[in-house]
Amino acid sequence: MKILLIGARGMLGGDLQPILSAAHEVIGRDVHDLDITDPMQTGKEIRLLRPEVVINAAAFTDVDGCESQRERAFSVNADGAGHVARGCRSAGSRLIHLSTDYVFDGTSHAPYAEESSPHPLNVYGESKLRGERLIQETGGNHLILRTAWLYGRQGKNFVDTILRLASQQEELRVVDDQRGAPTFTRDLSRAIAQLLDKDVRGILHITNSGSCSWFEFTQKILETKQIPGRKNRVIPISSSQLNRPARRPASSVLDCSRFQKLTGSKMRPWDEGLRDYLLGLS
Ligand SMILES: NC(=O)c1ccc[n+]([C@@H]2O[C@H](COP(=O)([O-])OP(=O)(O)OC[C@H]3O[C@@H](n4cnc5c(N)ncnc54)[C@H](OP(=O)(O)O)[C@@H]3O)[C@@H](O)[C@H]2O)c1
Repeated sequence: MKILLIGARGMLGGDLQPILSAAHEVIGRDVHDLDITDPMQTGKEIRLLRPEVVINAAAFTDVDGCESQRERAFSVNADGAGHVARGCRSAGSRLIHLSTDYVFDGTSHAPYAEESSPHPLNVYGESKLRGERLIQETGGNHLILRTAWLYGRQGKNFVDTILRLASQQEELRVVDDQRGAPTFTRDLSRAIAQLLDKDVRGILHITNSGSCSWFEFTQKILETKQIPGRKNRVIPISSSQLNRPARRPASSVLDCSRFQKLTGSKMRPWDEGLRDYLLGLS
């Protein structure tokens, strides 16, 4: 299968490219050679390559940065997604687009299903939701994959930040009132590979299974990979104590049962993915 992967140099793209290349022809593009905010360039590239599938993993993902750069957030995450969708429709390509748990406000006590009503709390979530809507309005063959709390070897991520901070300071203060499902980009990439030969459309939630708070995530990181000569103390704090520019949902756990039904497989627990990441395995 010929696949155009946009955002190939990002954290997810960096794992998707080698994993999908094992069985498919993958053409990787990133902002330097394909800027999705440019509708002409985007449409032309997709029509020229005529891939069977376009995977759009490109985004402006700095959640706090989006608050002060609203225009850029909407240009990439919303309009950019729309340009890709229109390019796909005119080339007859299937679009697989990445979206986020941050389209939800986190007030639900139960995990969010695909049909749950979105209500983003921050500009990043608003721009990603607008991107979803533009894709749906375009009407081509599309699959919107919402995922969450990604970490992977090809990008700046929470796990590496905690390890760096733990090596520099004894005490770490981490938010304990936000819950989600940490997801290893390699696990997500393999899940996406499973979907390529299935005619799945609409919205689909995929994360590693289980959930935790950032505080619990930190505890598990430091329990799994101890820093030599260090005895770190992790202190739980509230989001208001941290006072970040973007508000974040209290619980953005996604219900992934549709994925399970469609593929017959369940994503492994988040702490198993974390262990492999930290030990440098799969
Ligand atoms: N990271 C998470 O925790 C998380 C959670 C839920 C959902 N997601 C979604 O998952 C997808 C992948 O996320 P990620 O963490 O892999 O993101 P990432 O590491 O930030 O990668 C995104 C890539 O897109 C590129 N890009 C930015 N603007 C572009 C443009 N105008 N045209 C083409 N490429 C552009 C970026 O280049 P530059 O780096 O040079 O800007 C980067 O290489 C995104 O859709 C994101 O919204 C992520």
